[in-house]
Amino acid sequence: MEDSNKLNLTRREMIVGTAAAVTITLAAGTINNVEALAIAKAEIVPSAKVSFTVNGKIQQLHMDTRTTLLDTLREHLQLTGTKKGCDHGQCGACTVLVNGRRINSCLSLALQHEGDHIVTIEGLGTPDSLHPMQAAFVKHDGYQCGYCTPGQICSAVAVLQEIKAGIPSHVSADLTVHQNLVIWKYERE
Ligand code: FES
Repeated sequence: MEDSNKLNLTRREMIVGTAAAVTITLAAGTINNVEALAIAKAEIVPSAKVSFTVNGKIQQLHMDTRTTLLDTLREHLQLTGTKKGCDHGQCGACTVLVNGRRINSCLSLALQHEGDHIVTIEGLGTPDSLHPMQAAFVKHDGYQCGYCTPGQICSAVAVLQEIKAGIPSHVSADLTVHQNLVIWKYERE
């Protein structure tokens, strides 16, 4: 309740700030409307706390509420193994595992993951001790250009778990066969 009041106030402040900035722009003639709006918005950024586990390590962050999980991993935690390709949920370069399931991290806000367990390519294996899927990609030269390989590997790890769990896919002949078996068993650490 307190937070929503704060949000309303913030919106009013933003409107007032924006109007003031535009007025200054017109009067002074030194900055344009776009710059004035950017200044007004920059002064009032909605932020919140979030806590989750990444590759076995607890992370507590205070960040802009609009930050995607992808940008959080790359820009805030410096885990740049997860790649930004399309940034629109179409290429899969940003795939990570959340509670054992694969997701496109560019389509998910970091704040949605309170308490979640996230695994990125850095958490699957190390150069000296590769995850079996990483080793298989190396052995069979499965990189293509290599940019989206981390996402492909995370996705491949998850898809094997999906098959094991009987989860139907786009190539399943009958999507209803294993419905009762689709219970995702993820053991939290
Ligand atoms: Fe392409 Fe996320 S960056 S799906």
